[in-house]
Amino acid sequence: MNRTRTIAVLTLVAVLTAAAAYAAGKQHATTLDNLRDAFSVEAVAKARYEAYAAKAAEEGYSGIAALFRAVAMSEGVHGANHAEALKTLGGVAAAEVKPPLVKSTMDNLKVAVRTERNESGKIYPAYVKQAIAESNPQVVMSLKGAMASEGGHARLFSKALKKMEDWKNSVVILVCRTCGYTTDDLELKFCPFCTHPRKEFAEVK
Ligand SMILES: [Fe+2]
Ligand SMILES: [Fe+2]
Repeated sequence: MNRTRTIAVLTLVAVLTAAAAYAAGKQHATTLDNLRDAFSVEAVAKARYEAYAAKAAEEGYSGIAALFRAVAMSEGVHGANHAEALKTLGGVAAAEVKPPLVKSTMDNLKVAVRTERNESGKIYPAYVKQAIAESNPQVVMSLKGAMASEGGHARLFSKALKKMEDWKNSVVILVCRTCGYTTDDLELKFCPFCTHPRKEFAEVK
């Protein structure tokens, strides 16, 4: 191979390598951004529900207070999972959490239902789709786990909103410490999302 041809081949290889790296970088950039956003959303939600729990306890809704505490714990699990997934992409988890706006427990429940439906029905499905397109299994699991949980949160908040008086009584809510799955089904044997056994669930009262 003469010198000119060798230089041409090497240049072509360098260009192709750079193009591949650029493509890979671009691919990750989107899910990286989504994960950073998801981590922030979870951190804000956790702080919001902890504040809502205090308000519910103050208003005498001890069951709703337990539900908010359980969901706050679940959002913490999602945040931790997203932070781990972020690490695999070379990202860093960071969130700015401002003091949440707290209204009456009824209004807080309405905000919670709306927020959880938006997360489970719009935000997470789009993020999951993107992560699947980028063939990133750990990220897909983290996002899917959160998506499944948020749907459950919306159902539980909606249930409480419909019969608030009943939720003045104590309740027990189970939270999967692995994926954040949240339920009031005390007969549950295994997590329907990550299959971990009931004994590994937190019982929030
Ligand atoms: Fe949630
Ligand atoms: Fe789970």
